[in-house]
Amino acid sequence: MPPSMIEVDSVTKHFGATQALAGVDLVAEQGKVLALLGPNGAGKTTLVRILTTLLAPDSGRARVAGYDVVTEAGALRTEIGLAGQYAAVDELLTGRENLELVGLWYHLGKPEYRRRAREVLERFSLTDAADRLVKTYSGGMRRRLDIGASLIAHPPVLFLDEPTTGLDPPTRNEVWAFVEELVDDGTTVLLTTQQMEEAERLADRIVVIDRGAVIAHGTDQELKAQLGGDTLEVRVTNMADLERTAALLAQLAGGEPRTDRDQRQVSIPTTGGTPLLIQVGQQLEREQIPLDDLGIRHPSLDDVFLALTGTITRDDERLPEVADT
Ligand SMILES: Nc1ncnc2c1ncn2[C@@H]1O[C@H](COP(=O)(O)OP(=O)(O)O)[C@@H](O)[C@H]1O
Ligand SMILES: [Mg+2]
Repeated sequence: MPPSMIEVDSVTKHFGATQALAGVDLVAEQGKVLALLGPNGAGKTTLVRILTTLLAPDSGRARVAGYDVVTEAGALRTEIGLAGQYAAVDELLTGRENLELVGLWYHLGKPEYRRRAREVLERFSLTDAADRLVKTYSGGMRRRLDIGASLIAHPPVLFLDEPTTGLDPPTRNEVWAFVEELVDDGTTVLLTTQQMEEAERLADRIVVIDRGAVIAHGTDQELKAQLGGDTLEVRVTNMADLERTAALLAQLAGGEPRTDRDQRQVSIPTTGGTPLLIQVGQQLEREQIPLDDLGIRHPSLDDVFLALTGTITRDDERLPEVADT
């Protein structure tokens, strides 16, 4: 197993009466993408600020790249990059100057930071705009510059706080491709997002956070499996084959099939995936059972998120109802 690059242990943070983090635990493995998925106000930025030494936790401990975020903050800072929803670039400098400044801050020599700035401008398609003031840049260009700036020092751990929120789809795709390239190069990424699609596309593991607490975690497949996983569905051509098909599915998938006579359909929960689908198809063919349809239906990450956060919403809404009656 690869070593963990981020370890968060019972971290809490209050802002006045607001409990932004109510005891968060998580682990991110080296060279992987961990997505922190949660709605607005869930505590994502607060956790990122703690992990990037910009904010101290009230209690709990966290280590990034082997350094304690509180007691070893100075040493940690050279190991991390941060980019986010609100681009931290200076509008009154050019794109190139912004990048070179970051290199200077990391104590890179002049030839080195000039070379890396050129490299980043090239990679993020900003070469033509390199010597224009950032205030003339579009939103997408700023975001690219911001992410580029976080990469100047080649940090082994990168924090991306809602890196594509507010971006148009083409620019969002571009950012996703950059993140994938970085991970191919071995960078560990903690990404916060409100978008299931983004978590699904980029993350090796997902931590779902709401109201400062982790409410679920796992791979997207594992999260979906918590909802009962996939369903294998077979629609037979002839009603006469329905029972035989149900028995066959029970035997191959191991479980309790549901039959819908109106639809001439049998369905069964499964984690067997495509191999099982193929096996079922072959067996039905051998038994000469004609089919109208055969497939696996996956729950979406949206289903998962709704199931998780929907519960919390219902609990809250029940309170005034009880008070009314
Ligand atoms: N500096 C602050 N002062 C007061 N409240 C804050 C501050 N920062 C965050 N909060 C509150 O903490 C909670 C979590 O915020 P945040 O971490 O920004 O969530 P997210 O990034 O998931 O949208 C919210 O209720 C927010 O209003
Ligand atoms: Mg935020």
